[in-house]
Amino acid sequence: MIYFDNSASTFIKPKEVISATLSGLTKYSANPGRSGHKLSVNAATKIETIRQKVADFVNAENIVFTQNCTDALNLAIQGTYKPSGHIICTSNDHNASVRPIFELQKKFGIEVSIVEPKDSELLTLDDILPFVKKNTYLICVNHISNVNGDIAKINKIGDYCKKNNILFLVDGAQSIGHIKIDMQKDNIDMLAIAPHKALYSPQGIGALAFNSNVKIKPIRYGGTGTESENVYQPNEGIERFESGTIATPNILGLGAGIDFVEQNFDKIKEKIEDLTAYLLFELSNIENVKVYTHPNNLFGVIGFNIKDYGSTEVSQTLSDKFDICTRGGLHCAGLKHKQLGTLTQGIVRVSLSYFNTYSECQKLVRAIKYLASKK
Ligand code: ALA
Repeated sequence: MIYFDNSASTFIKPKEVISATLSGLTKYSANPGRSGHKLSVNAATKIETIRQKVADFVNAENIVFTQNCTDALNLAIQGTYKPSGHIICTSNDHNASVRPIFELQKKFGIEVSIVEPKDSELLTLDDILPFVKKNTYLICVNHISNVNGDIAKINKIGDYCKKNNILFLVDGAQSIGHIKIDMQKDNIDMLAIAPHKALYSPQGIGALAFNSNVKIKPIRYGGTGTESENVYQPNEGIERFESGTIATPNILGLGAGIDFVEQNFDKIKEKIEDLTAYLLFELSNIENVKVYTHPNNLFGVIGFNIKDYGSTEVSQTLSDKFDICTRGGLHCAGLKHKQLGTLTQGIVRVSLSYFNTYSECQKLVRAIKYLASKK
């Protein structure tokens, strides 16, 4: 079996991630931050160490652990809601941010603008500027598209936001692990993290990184292990965002995932760039294949179609006949497909991880050549 669906979730996890996650079940299963006994304190201490590791990794001032990246985006979007405000998002954005934004529009009547990049492969500040209004309080940008790897130039957008007192939210689901992000240098106020993708970590954990000047309100309420006499959610402390028991084993896995990526960053980047460039070159040269990924965007996300075949059918055939796992359809990113003109057909997506090989890519190219040559 060849696994090319790593933008959905990386399938092969480093052995260090597996053993750290397992230790969460065998050594750290007491409830962190709730009781005063040693096992509870050990678990809480371990979690705080990893919280700091995540913060250092992206140079964040605060880290909230969430259920997943979608949950982190919901916290960022709903938790900073401003009545009568205006939000800008982009056609690259995933429904993980688009839907919470449009929910605010539906419920509270906030205004929303969707920016389409002029050069589809690179979203820039110039694309955004014409949409800014007096009441714009949040600009939400997907860093790398999960559909075809299109990228946004976040640094300049962040710089503009900083100078104009607008919150800047980056969905880093497909970029963290591929690109080094420094929230302070890149002028990011809030950054949503999807550990189970390019941080090679378990599913069931996400994180929202944010700067201390950002005022976020909790969007879920319940036990925090603090101020228990209070019927209202505490106003202070990171735990006010983390009601309920958090996923200790997955957080331990995330710590090991970050270590793995930090220790191997250059090797990972070089391999994914090489394999992406190889696949883009080969697929672009096959008759009847249309590639949607720009050759500059070497982040392991390759979108393509064969003739007018439905992308889900092609993906299914790759699985059934060639034992190759890809993803077809709309990838929970309808705005991007509207921009690319693929709302009906969808796109076949091949997405890579460090554990993919050149020989696997050659097998994919052979399979696509075969399918494209059929009537
Ligand atoms: N957002 C994930 C993907 O792109 C699930 O497949």
